Amino acid sequence: MPLIPLRPLLETVDKYHYAQGAFNVNAVAQAKAAIEVHEMFRSAAILQGADLANGFMGGRTDFQNATLEDKKIGAKNIANAVKKYAEDSPIPVVLHLDHGKNFDSCKAAIEGGYTSVMIDGSHHPIHDNIQMTKEVVEYAHARGVSVEAEVGTVGGNEDGVVGGIKYADLNECVRLVQEANVDALAPALGSVHGPYQGEPVLGFTEMEAIGKATNMPLVLHGGTGIPDEKIKKAIACGTCKINVNTECQLAFNKL
Ligand code: 13P
Repeated sequence: MPLIPLRPLLETVDKYHYAQGAFNVNAVAQAKAAIEVHEMFRSAAILQGADLANGFMGGRTDFQNATLEDKKIGAKNIANAVKKYAEDSPIPVVLHLDHGKNFDSCKAAIEGGYTSVMIDGSHHPIHDNIQMTKEVVEYAHARGVSVEAEVGTVGGNEDGVVGGIKYADLNECVRLVQEANVDALAPALGSVHGPYQGEPVLGFTEMEAIGKATNMPLVLHGGTGIPDEKIKKAIACGTCKINVNTECQLAFNKL
């Protein structure tokens, strides 16, 4: 079937109180494998391409230096492949841009065929984050594409997204959701991209409060290394999408 946007999938997830894994892919073969595994479980699939990973998939091996042109080519390459696999598949598939750096990155992904984008304005003051997000939402919604935004910052390093942990502020989350009209919210609450140093410490009380105050499906970044019990608790606190990247790349590199 054709690719679907994120919003209708997360509405179903929210209604039935489970969560959907969202898995990063850096190659066409990885996308194919991820869809096949979801088919085995008769589950919908969310595949993600990170902003710089689009540069890599556009042929830029030094992806840290990827230009907008590289990202445009990469977005089209991966979207064409994922579209083809999804069309032959009985499961719904979302193709989501992970950590879109700015409007142009999101536009490149949407033009390439992504059905959902994250605009990551979390490193900017909240007013600027809201403005950036609003601009992307207007462009994306006019094209049937969903938008995820982030408040607070996730720790660690992922494809050039480097940060220290900064907890999301509840009032800022409410403001962003009300003013920018997003489809999913990622409140950073102690999670880390890449491996954890010891047991992850997540702000479940804050997560539940933000979920209730915003009435939004929440996204948990930094899924690699979070124990099952904490994953279950995050779902009970309103998390509907759990991002996993490092674990996918480690598995792929072992092949
Ligand atoms: P991990 O690499 O820790 O799984 O995090 C993935 C992620 O949050 C993608 O946005």
